Amino acid sequence: MYAEALKTGRKIFAVAPMIDWTDRHCRYLHRQLTAHALLYTEMIVADAIIHGPRERLLSYSPEEHPVALQLGGSDPAKLAEAVRIASDFGYDEINLNVGCPSDRVQSGTFGACLMKTPELVAECVVAMKRVATVPVTVKCRIGVDEQEPEAVLPDFLSRVVGAGADAVWIHARKAWLQGLSPKENREIPPLDYEIVHRMKRENPDVFLGINGGITDLDRAARHLTVMDGVMLGRAAYQNAGLLAEVDERVLGEAHREPDWLELRDAMMAYADRVIASGGRLNQVTRHMVGLFQGFAGARRYRQILSTEPTKPGAGPEVIGAAFAVVDLDAGAKQQAG
Ligand SMILES: Cc1cc2nc3c(=O)[nH]c(=O)nc-3n(C[C@H](O)[C@H](O)[C@H](O)COP(=O)(O)O)c2cc1C
Repeated sequence: MYAEALKTGRKIFAVAPMIDWTDRHCRYLHRQLTAHALLYTEMIVADAIIHGPRERLLSYSPEEHPVALQLGGSDPAKLAEAVRIASDFGYDEINLNVGCPSDRVQSGTFGACLMKTPELVAECVVAMKRVATVPVTVKCRIGVDEQEPEAVLPDFLSRVVGAGADAVWIHARKAWLQGLSPKENREIPPLDYEIVHRMKRENPDVFLGINGGITDLDRAARHLTVMDGVMLGRAAYQNAGLLAEVDERVLGEAHREPDWLELRDAMMAYADRVIASGGRLNQVTRHMVGLFQGFAGARRYRQILSTEPTKPGAGPEVIGAAFAVVDLDAGAKQQAG
């Protein structure tokens, strides 16, 4: 996928890995909106895959492809074992998290603090590549703490690429490992897109994607004039409707008007299947609240989806009732205009 993208110049648009957000139900929704975006799982810790409930952690719907599994860990042998186990599940890519700054992650010595030990990241990549049958990629920051991105990022990239990483996704800001919460670490350290663009110019043969603070598709498209890939996190989740335009506007596919009624029916049928297999309606609908921003009726839609799905006996019809209060035609015209 990445080698081909580099060869042909085809760009990759990705929805970022987000714990508690990009679970399988979220990805199923996103896939209804875009056929081509690469969808990431939440980070799953290698130890959890080795010792925990594999089926629950790793299974997903075939419709979600292409889907990349993000792993957390820093022990090459454990990461390799996790990759081996995950290979039965058919993910299209395995990604290593070198960007997450939470305390819980630091105490396990992985995530963003690995920016300080690029040689260990390289060992992890080598071990993962040895067993993987799909691309192995890394998601990183431009540096952490007192590190000078200009000094550390080129070395970090050359080591992980030298170890065999097929692509690197760079969150264009530093992480502060002490004193900032994970949320603050997504907002306070300043964005530095320029250094990420420069890394791409200096490494024309390496697939590099950019992430961080990209709020709409115009900005995404501008980054793609330099970068090979663009990854949106919060904007894609909180305003999922924008994904309906990704295939055409960002990836150059033929224009296709979003069919909201088809989406409604697909999500009702999906919710029905989730409930039939022991899940809850809210597990599906909680990801749908951010749809229809700017449409008449969106407020009422959000209200319905925020309150009704948790009521006893609530079923897929709640999705139908929520869609019914949105002026879908006017919204479509507004989006086109
Ligand atoms: C709720 C939430 C959970 C996140 N979980 C992860 C994660 O599991 N792995 C990871 O690499 N980054 C994680 N991130 C960071 C995002 O992948 C992304 O790098 C960050 O939000 C910046 O991109 P954005 O400005 O487009 O949101 C998370 C972000 C949010 C908002």
